[in-house]
Amino acid sequence: MKQDDQRGKKIVIALDGPAASGKGTLARRLASHFNLALLDTGILYRAVGWNVLQDGGDPENEVDALKAAEKISDTDFSNPELRTESIGVAASKVAQIAAVRSTLLNFQRHFANNPPPDKDGAILDGRDIATVICPEAPIKIFITADVETRAKRRFLEEYGENGTPEQLAEILKDLKDRDQRDINRSASPLKKAENAYLIDTTDSDIEAVFEAAREFVSSKM
Ligand code: C5P
Repeated sequence: MKQDDQRGKKIVIALDGPAASGKGTLARRLASHFNLALLDTGILYRAVGWNVLQDGGDPENEVDALKAAEKISDTDFSNPELRTESIGVAASKVAQIAAVRSTLLNFQRHFANNPPPDKDGAILDGRDIATVICPEAPIKIFITADVETRAKRRFLEEYGENGTPEQLAEILKDLKDRDQRDINRSASPLKKAENAYLIDTTDSDIEAVFEAAREFVSSKM
């Protein structure tokens, strides 16, 4: 219910979920609808993974990964290669290292708490937003889908209609490995916050998903 003291307050939405669950699309729709600044936190880990590989390093080596994390501001975040599944795999390796996560933490918290004056708040999407980065966020959403559905979506994004069954199988394997690393790591593992609103997108299109999330967010404002 809307309280008087909530009016005019900036909102923070924490959106978490596994790879290729539809987080990015939902985050963009919510950001545009509610006039929020948007941070895709996965791109930070992807940039670190990319930098390690560019330097010929090993994404699972702490020294290589930390060196790459420290020069993250030099990265071209618009490089489409950052979005590929192979860089997603490198990202999930550097993301296991607690010291890498620490170097990225303040930037993410600052973004959440300091949206530009023309925005009504911020939305961050990732794996640990509701559990670690913004545990006080009043609005938490966890979005998921079964892994075969997520693999098909990522396959179509990367290869369009021209992909082969072998490429689909490779993406499915990468996503499963990535899920295992994200769920089982000791540093900020992927998990649903207790009070997060759960949306399963396996059988829903983006319009239905957006509508459910929009209603939930509106009920919290
Ligand atoms: O969301 P996206 O697929 O771009 O994330 C790439 C990888 O970065 C994830 O598999 C995960 O290992 C890592 N990540 C993370 N914490 C976040 C966002 C991403 O560990 N908040």
